[in-house]
Amino acid sequence: MNILITGVAGLIGNNFSRYLLNKGHKVIGIDNLFGGYKEYVDNRVNFYCFDVNDAESLEKVFNENQIDIVYHFAAYAAEGLSPFIRSFNYENNVVASVKVINQCIKHNIKIVFTSSVAVYGEIETPYKENQIPVPEDPYGIAKLTVEMDIKQAHKQFGLEYNLVRPHNIIGVYQNIWDRYRNVIGIWINSALNGKSLTIYGDGKQTRAFTDVSSIMQPLEYLGWKNVNAETFNIGSDKEYEVLEVCKLVQKVAKGFGYNTNIEFVEGRHEVKHAFCDHTKAKEIIGLEDKTDIEKVICEMFNWAKKQPRREQKFMAYEIDKNMYSYWR
Ligand SMILES: NC(=O)c1ccc[n+]([C@@H]2O[C@H](COP(=O)([O-])OP(=O)(O)OC[C@H]3O[C@@H](n4cnc5c(N)ncnc54)[C@H](O)[C@@H]3O)[C@@H](O)[C@H]2O)c1
Repeated sequence: MNILITGVAGLIGNNFSRYLLNKGHKVIGIDNLFGGYKEYVDNRVNFYCFDVNDAESLEKVFNENQIDIVYHFAAYAAEGLSPFIRSFNYENNVVASVKVINQCIKHNIKIVFTSSVAVYGEIETPYKENQIPVPEDPYGIAKLTVEMDIKQAHKQFGLEYNLVRPHNIIGVYQNIWDRYRNVIGIWINSALNGKSLTIYGDGKQTRAFTDVSSIMQPLEYLGWKNVNAETFNIGSDKEYEVLEVCKLVQKVAKGFGYNTNIEFVEGRHEVKHAFCDHTKAKEIIGLEDKTDIEKVICEMFNWAKKQPRREQKFMAYEIDKNMYSYWR
């Protein structure tokens, strides 16, 4: 199959492209390298470097390749920062997605979209797919908007699709140089640079961290098994308090010879408890959670310490009202 992956240079894109290539598929990949790195893209990928908001370049890729399925992963997933970069968030995560959806409609290609558990918001946990989502921030609103747009295209144009709502995916190729997102990556980077591991608030927030390898087969199933127009939570069943995970990172860092402190900083506007029920994904798309969180953190640490030193990303804020002290 010829499979197009947007966001191919990112965590999920890198891991999934390798998974598909190793099964003999052809992968066409797009990434603007906003959050990913070209050197991590497998050289078997037919790689295009541009922003998916560029409709002309997108059209060219769809015309040049006989694409069977599209996996749309490209997004800037800085959930906590999204209220301060509102228009960028919607341009990059909604408008750009709609350009991909337009091509899928025109070329009759099935789309698998990585939405997020951020759509659910502060509602009862474990989240189930049939609950009414009430997103708590612009990132979650953006994901829910794209879900709704895809459903509309399904009704009017017969667009085939599946929506997946992953959560706290971790593994090698995660960007550890972005100060705004992916807590485990941030901690690993801090430990490597002799800085404290910071916790927003009291560390009693609960999240279920998921080994990226656990979501490969479910993603594959969503593309071409007989599943269509469905929404699935995917990820690990085991939730942890953030402080517990921080202590694990501290322990792993120590094992590699890096001693660090834990520092509590002001809390953020965020959902306190976010974890999911995965019954549907287990029954229909073969989700099997193999996450051993300490093992994944070890693999990530081992990988991260061999990477070049990179500058941390600083974003231009559209709003600086109520900005947290550590992001000023
Ligand atoms: N990792 C998680 O825990 C998680 C959880 C829920 C949802 N998701 C979603 O899954 C998808 C992939 O996540 P990830 O963790 O691999 O993120 P990531 O940041 O590692 O990868 C995203 C990739 O998309 C690229 N990109 C961003 N905007 C782009 C644009 N406009 N044009 C072209 N390329 C662009 C980035 O350069 C990056 O390489 C995202 O849509 C994210 O919102 C991830």
